[in-house]
Amino acid sequence: MAVISIRKLPDQVLREPSREITEINGELQRLIDDMAETMYAAPGLGLAAPQVGRLHRLIVFDVTHRDGGPQDLKVIINPCITQAEGELTREEGCLSVADFSAEVRRHARVTVKGLDREGKPLSITGEGLLAVVLQHEVDHLDGILFIDRISRLKRGLYLRRLKKQAAAR
Ligand code: NI
Repeated sequence: MAVISIRKLPDQVLREPSREITEINGELQRLIDDMAETMYAAPGLGLAAPQVGRLHRLIVFDVTHRDGGPQDLKVIINPCITQAEGELTREEGCLSVADFSAEVRRHARVTVKGLDREGKPLSITGEGLLAVVLQHEVDHLDGILFIDRISRLKRGLYLRRLKKQAAAR
């Protein structure tokens, strides 16, 4: 296993749509292991394949871990939100959006269907933090970041700060 470097804005790979996974093979298993290790090392609660530069519909997450240790790793291949209800607002950050967090409004409860790492059908229903992580990670597969779901004003402030930092480097 290996930690992969995490792509950060303004890297445009984060804005690309990811493709469905059609073959579950050893290469994919290695990618899953590397993504899990990368997520725990960061540390983060979730990671989507485009964040490591792979445009595959694949997410990993673990909302139970706190200090870097694997506890309840979940993998979803080709995840799809099939049910969503209610509303909640929660502070979010992202390993691909450096030094920024903001309150984001999302569905309070979602069901995501897809395949597990062996290719068996899987359905996960979550609320609260789990619902947020599921929606946040699935968004990544469509090139959507949490900053797209905040006010234009706040997003503009962040993007200007990012530009200034890039110019100062
Ligand atoms: Ni993210």
